[in-house]
Amino acid sequence: MSILTQAAVRKAGMRDIPPILTLINSYAANGIMLPRTEFEMSENIRDFSVAYDGANLVGCGALHFYTPTTAEVRSLAVLPEAKTRGVGRALVSALEEEAVDNNLEAIFAFTYVPQFFARLGFEEVERGELPLKAWKDCLRCPKFQNCDEIAVLKRLTVTYGTSQEGFVSTRTSGLIQLPTVFQSTMR
Ligand SMILES: CC(C)(COP(=O)(O)OP(=O)(O)OC[C@H]1O[C@@H](n2cnc3c(N)ncnc32)[C@H](O)[C@@H]1OP(=O)(O)O)[C@@H](O)C(=O)NCCC(=O)NCCS
Repeated sequence: MSILTQAAVRKAGMRDIPPILTLINSYAANGIMLPRTEFEMSENIRDFSVAYDGANLVGCGALHFYTPTTAEVRSLAVLPEAKTRGVGRALVSALEEEAVDNNLEAIFAFTYVPQFFARLGFEEVERGELPLKAWKDCLRCPKFQNCDEIAVLKRLTVTYGTSQEGFVSTRTSGLIQLPTVFQSTMR
């Protein structure tokens, strides 16, 4: 990819599955993420948001509902060439906004990069506080008996307004414009 210009975040669709799989499974090959299949992606594509720079996918992330009040941020990945340019933050912001729109009280993640999530307002918690996780995805994880991921959680501010719809989110929706970055400054 030559230049990261005005990357934008939007909900994913079926056509995004091939580049999402390429991105996630390239990290999975190094043990950084869980691998995904086309079948799993098709089943869960509505969880996903994607960041594009022109025609190029530069990042993805998913919001997976767990309980009526909590959801997991997962499958978060940014193309190596596009890292540290705000793509990850924009993706998590979009997922957080989606969580608020769905009236959730908290979002959580299991991660090797708690420092990144700390920058976004997440706090580290005991994994025992999130017991459902262990009985869903973790069972098929090769690291189940020896997990070294850190649990992080962000409590959401739920704003109730006076409109006839009841719940009112204070956040805006739609595309998130990212800063312009030129090739010479990319790592
Ligand atoms: C973790 C990841 C998603 C971050 O994406 P990114 O686009 O590089 O992150 P951003 O540029 O939006 O960074 C947001 C903030 O987090 C910080 N940050 C990003 N990665 C960091 C890291 N590895 N360690 C510490 N801080 C980090 C940035 O400096 C920035 O801080 P600021 O508030 O001072 O601006 C990306 O590095 C990645 O895809 N990693 C491999 C896959 C992975 O580990 N996914 C997480 C699964 S839970």
